[in-house]
Amino acid sequence: MSKQTGPGHKRLSINDLLRMKQAGEKIAMVTAYDATMARLVDAAGIDVVLVGDSVGMTQLGHASTLPVTLEQMIHHCAAVRRGLDKGTGRAQLVCDMPFGSYQASLDEAVKNAMRLVAEGGAEAVKIEGGHDYAEVIRRIARAGVPVMSHIGLTPQSVHKLGGYVVQGRDQEKAQQLLADAKAVAQAGAYALVLECIPAELSRFITGQLAIPTIGIGAGVHCDGQVLVVNDLLGLDDAFKPKFVKRYGEVGQAIGDAVRAYVADVRGAQFPAEEQSFHGQSLRLLQLVEGDGAEPSVIGAPV
Ligand code: KIV
Repeated sequence: MSKQTGPGHKRLSINDLLRMKQAGEKIAMVTAYDATMARLVDAAGIDVVLVGDSVGMTQLGHASTLPVTLEQMIHHCAAVRRGLDKGTGRAQLVCDMPFGSYQASLDEAVKNAMRLVAEGGAEAVKIEGGHDYAEVIRRIARAGVPVMSHIGLTPQSVHKLGGYVVQGRDQEKAQQLLADAKAVAQAGAYALVLECIPAELSRFITGQLAIPTIGIGAGVHCDGQVLVVNDLLGLDDAFKPKFVKRYGEVGQAIGDAVRAYVADVRGAQFPAEEQSFHGQSLRLLQLVEGDGAEPSVIGAPV
């Protein structure tokens, strides 16, 4: 049953996403990594917020998602949870299981998924991989944690894939991805991210599955779309892959704002009168100057 949250809103459950697919309503998902961004995307009406392990690249300065730890995911997820709890409370919160947190053993995978729910406040976890991870999905889902799967370009397998390249372009690879999609749905995944695969293939997979597909670089026929929030906002001028549409130039706006601040500080234009306080300190100054002592500068270098 969906939890009743913020004024007039109920939190979107996994069943709500299924209902959206059946009704032909598209699902809008985006990443967030902190409380402020979570509050902003929730207020803008997003359906699903993903604390992606892309946090490693977008926020932590790594060259890939591979160094991201479970503790870091819990830390960021808990911040996003707090941000969402201050908003409408409608958006569903999904957290990525980072590299190394679900591959070593089934028991560890279940334990780590539970930590993301219990300590991070996630409602579901996302794991990368198809058929080979069916048993992991089954065990985590059976333990009560909904699992979103992720196939196609799976960044945690960047070395195996030979780079960040479009997947499933030939018949054999496309058949494999279809088999993966069916295997994860069969295993109990409630939704499936399709990353960087041909639009025709994602259309076919979407038609074959009862669970919603959410695309990134996978064409318009998926049941929903996901983007990394930094890409959507245009935070990084230098990064614009083909599948990203920029809905803002926030990086440019931040640069302009900070340049204006620097100029104001240097020109003694900030703070102006309206940002200044007056009162008690004036009388203190008169007291010091009125005691007959030489004015002194406290803390000046000697
Ligand atoms: O980590 C991430 O941001 C993701 C999305 C790109 C789907 O997995």
